[in-house]
Formats: sequence, structure tokens, C-alpha cells
Amino acid sequence: MKVFTTKEALREYILPLKQSGKKTGFVPTMGALHDGHLALVKNSVENNDITVVSIFVNPTQFDNPDDLKKYPRDLETDIALLQTISPDILVFAPDAYNFYDGRIASQSFDFDGLEQVMEGKHRPGHFDGVGTVVKKLFEIVQPDTAYFGEKDFQQLQIIKKLVQKFSLPIQIVPVPIYRAADGLAMSSRNKRLTPMHRAAAPFIYQVLRQVSLLSQSQSFDKVRGFVTNVIAAHPLLELEYFEIANEDSLQSAKEKIAGNKYRGFIVVYAGDVRLIDNIEL
Ligand code: PAJ
Repeated sequence: MKVFTTKEALREYILPLKQSGKKTGFVPTMGALHDGHLALVKNSVENNDITVVSIFVNPTQFDNPDDLKKYPRDLETDIALLQTISPDILVFAPDAYNFYDGRIASQSFDFDGLEQVMEGKHRPGHFDGVGTVVKKLFEIVQPDTAYFGEKDFQQLQIIKKLVQKFSLPIQIVPVPIYRAADGLAMSSRNKRLTPMHRAAAPFIYQVLRQVSLLSQSQSFDKVRGFVTNVIAAHPLLELEYFEIANEDSLQSAKEKIAGNKYRGFIVVYAGDVRLIDNIEL
């Protein structure tokens, strides 16, 4: 398994491969890999000649320094997991200093309002950080195709907007949410849950499934009220937000308009761990 720790070394290695016509798939991650990440990697390996996986806990997208400090990091285990998929995967694991040329800061972006709602509203600067790191990663790797999970649906839409705004010749492939058998969306942060909170967390997906059912017959406002009440009644979970939004604009939806697609988006704290999930309605 080849592991590159500087962008210069990675560029030098992949440039001739790309010049010989090899198709490159790219999976950006922050490591602490789980089956959700691996679903993206398998998709890339199956559909490209070369797959690059980046493992980089990007400091500029964390609005909470404590979250950054506690973010799980385990490069050796990550490499061993990737090895089980294919020994030919190229791993890019730079340090922040090399990646940002010594200047760790975000560029600011206008994503036509996609960045102002939900995660953007609750995590100031988050999407500037994501936009900055992904744009730089795209410049370094220059992939033909890049894979993003629907688990971070707002991020996925923002990356599509980034590609469109900067006319990047990259195809963005969305990958469905990968869940544990009990329904909890896989997340690196799940590793930080206490056993008690881990046992409580599948309730989030149970609520989302009820949201999907209820929204067929009830108004979106009624469904919002339902979510607020059931989570408030749960002794171990705390709701940060629940929103029903148009899938394309991500703007809050008052009522269903035929021909539009909607999703329910939720963020819940289980102890001090912030969990995010969503469901197609
Ligand atoms: P990270 O949280 O490590 O996620 C990397 C990719 O894996 C993202 O596209 C995310 O949506 C996807 N993913 C995570 N859990 C998933 C699941 N249960 N099912 C399907 N896909 C899942 O998202 C980031 O890192 C960062 O913001 C990044 C894009 C790497 C920029 O720093």
C-alpha cells in the first residue's frame, strides 16, 4: 500500500499514470474509517483504474476546537482496512502544515445559499472549511470522479455546487447512507459514544422512518412538531435541529409541491457526541 504524506510526492506519482490515460477515482475522508467510508472506496475501486483515498482531519472545517481535539485518529488501522479492499489504493495522508503551505485558513465561498442553512447555520465557517479543503484536494488529485456520502447530504450538494461554480471536470457520485444493523448511520464519531448512548442512538433512525411515513399524510409542520416532542421526551438524546427541506435548494419547505423532492434532516446530541442523519421523504 502506497502512503503519501506530501502533496508533491502524490502529484509526482500520479501525473504519469494520468498521462497514460488511467481513470482516477477519489474518496476524501477524515479517517477513522468505517463501513460507510469503505462503501465509497469499493465504488471507486470497481469503477476506476486508480483510487486515491485522502485521510486528513481538516482543521479549518471544525467550528468547535474540542470536537477537533477529540476527533478519532488511527492511520494504521485505516491503512489495514483499505488494504482489505485493494493493495493498489493510493493513500494521501498529509499533515496540515504541508497541505496548507503553512497557512491554515479557509477561503470564503458563495454556494448560492446552500451554505447558510442547517449545518451552515449551526456550525459557522464549516462549509468554507469544507470548500477550501475539497477544492485543494481536487487540485492535487485531479480525479475524474469523486465519491461523497448522502449521510452528509448538505455537504454533497455543496460539493456539486463547487464543481459547477469553478467548472471543474469532475463527476460527483453520491453514495447512499450506510447503516449499522440497528439503523444507526455509521460515523467516525460513533466510536466516542458511551455504551448507554450507543444503545440509545438507533432511536434517531426510528424517528426518521416515522417522519417518512407521517409526511405522506400530515403537514410538514405537524411532522416537525412530532420530532421535537419525541426527542424532547427521550432521556438521553437532545435535538439540535430537525428540518424538512427541498433536496435541491435545501431551503426549509412549508408544504409539499408536486414534482419536488424533500428530505428530513436531523442533528441530535447523544451525550457530547453530535450525530447527523437524514432521510428521503
Ligand atoms: P468524513 O466524515 O470522514 O466522511 C468522508 C466521506 O464518507 C463523506 O463523503 C461522507 O458523507 C461519507 N460517509 C460518512 N459516513 C457515511 C455513511 N454512514 N454512509 C455513507 N457515506 C458516509 O465528510 C468528511 O469526512 C469531510 O467533510 C471531507 C469531505 C473529507 C472534507 O474534509
